[in-house]
Amino acid sequence: MERPDPHPLDYDWRFTNETADYIASLCNKDPTLAIGVPTVASKLDDENRNVTLVDWHPIQIAKHHLHIDVNNSPAFIGDFANVVMDPPWYLDVYYRWLSWAANSAGRHAIIILSIWPDSTRPLAKKEKDELYSWINTWGDITTHENILSYEIPEFEKNTYKKSIPSPSRFGDLVLIKIKSTPTLLEYKSMGDKWHRYILNNYQIAIKDTIHKHELYKIKKIDHANGWIWPSVSQRALGRENIELWSSENEVAAIGNPTKLIDCFDELIATGNTRYLTDEFPELSSWDIPKPPYKRMKKWIQNC
Ligand SMILES: C[S@@+](CC[C@H](N)C(=O)[O-])C[C@H]1O[C@@H](n2cnc3c(N)ncnc32)[C@H](O)[C@@H]1O
Repeated sequence: MERPDPHPLDYDWRFTNETADYIASLCNKDPTLAIGVPTVASKLDDENRNVTLVDWHPIQIAKHHLHIDVNNSPAFIGDFANVVMDPPWYLDVYYRWLSWAANSAGRHAIIILSIWPDSTRPLAKKEKDELYSWINTWGDITTHENILSYEIPEFEKNTYKKSIPSPSRFGDLVLIKIKSTPTLLEYKSMGDKWHRYILNNYQIAIKDTIHKHELYKIKKIDHANGWIWPSVSQRALGRENIELWSSENEVAAIGNPTKLIDCFDELIATGNTRYLTDEFPELSSWDIPKPPYKRMKKWIQNC
């Protein structure tokens, strides 16, 4: 089974093959807890190693997958030799995920972490210094700058003009030897509910909001470039107006989300797009695959 194309709501920047191999080679003992790192979990599975993947996306290749939301689930008590993790690159998420990992993995684990480089955003270095001071209260830390490399996902390529190649993305590697268990920290989620649909490898998400407008069924968003969202930042102006979002970074605002959810539910149930194309003809210019489908799935994401 193939994983679907990365979707921006999952912050799904995948490691290059070389980096996934390199990180797997750092896991020199079993068992490993792999948090939000499906590519590394697959490498370890290929080597018949003992690995448990934690990831909120339901479609995974990993043999042992716990389908849970790290921001919102209790830590479990385990005894792992390594934790490999690559959270979405935001400070509040790192506090939550690291405290969750240290509480779940047990006292003897080494945490192998990817983190944003200093050049990522204006406060990147200050945020890392703050995070490292906290980590030093419960672990011994070693850092290696810019040595982890990422594939550029299709949704990010679409934010740039096709003629300009997207910049490469690198992460710093951090190794943490746990000395004591930190308090499990809370994460304040945005409280959004998304209906997620997978059609072959294409993914599309509809935000579950109240019915607002009879004036439009679907419309382009201010700050978007036509239907394409020109940013990958969580802080981008106007991002909160996105109510329909695809793995190609196509975005829109929706007047009646319930109607659109009904149309996609019908599509998933029957494999027929007629109801959707009749009600939302604007979507014919999106990259939504046509039937017949090799794979159709719906899931709910709270974030
Ligand atoms: C930044 S990507 C890292 C992918 C990694 N570089 C790889 O190549 O495997 C984050 C991963 O964490 C998962 N994820 C994001 N938020 C999550 C959450 N709150 N709980 C569990 N998994 C989450 C995503 O589905 C995605 O697979």
